[in-house]
Amino acid sequence: MTAMRLRPLIAGNWKMNGSRAQAEALISDLRARRAAQPDLAADLLVCPPAPHVMRVVNLAEGSGIAVGGQDCHTKASGAHTGDTAAAMLADCGCRYVIVGHSERRADHGETSELVAAKAKAALAAGLIAIVCVGETEAERDRGATLDVISSQLEGSVPADAEATNLVVAYEPVWAIGTGRTPTPEDVAAVHAHIRGLLQAWFKDGAEIRILYGGSVKASNAASLLHVPEVNGALVGGASLKSEEFWAIALAAAGS
Ligand code: PGA
Repeated sequence: MTAMRLRPLIAGNWKMNGSRAQAEALISDLRARRAAQPDLAADLLVCPPAPHVMRVVNLAEGSGIAVGGQDCHTKASGAHTGDTAAAMLADCGCRYVIVGHSERRADHGETSELVAAKAKAALAAGLIAIVCVGETEAERDRGATLDVISSQLEGSVPADAEATNLVVAYEPVWAIGTGRTPTPEDVAAVHAHIRGLLQAWFKDGAEIRILYGGSVKASNAASLLHVPEVNGALVGGASLKSEEFWAIALAAAGS
């Protein structure tokens, strides 16, 4: 079966980086590049740290670059000090939110059950949830990659999701921030596996975008993004440099 060509999504995960001035400079530069190339055949998204979201939304307005959160709470409001409700992100102009990033699974002990509840809250708020899954190096070494992906995905994705409000990101934990990446063949095998699961679970499973994430940069973007069933990238470190992020977007768009 040949993979459906979906419009790629290039998502920048800024993580806990950057001053307000740096965030402003980054979005302003991306905005200018995007304006110079209005027919870019890719969707662009940036996910700034929470305190910068509103400012970045303002500067991105009308640019065609979407803004997203890096996490959200399961509840719509209440006594949850330090947390952010999905509806607040939506109210601030966000269109997306990342849930279940491996750094949150590791740093905050987030289980797939919790991630599913966050994704559900995101959908209820009208956001598109980017649900992250990925195996550790130890899991990979013992040949458990596909089993880990299956169980994380099954546990993390809300049953009522659809292609308009769900994106899946495959991010091998050992590839994040390390400069190491799986081979295109390995990426192809995992993405084909994810596609099969999504098609089994969802009517429009063929149209749900599956991003690859983990040490994507300008120099490897073309080889990773042209793998079948790779519909874009979730980019960490390289998304903090506008020329790198832009080069990845161009590679995704095939321009
Ligand atoms: P990286 O991060 O591109 O810096 O490896 C990717 C991610 O964690 O989303």
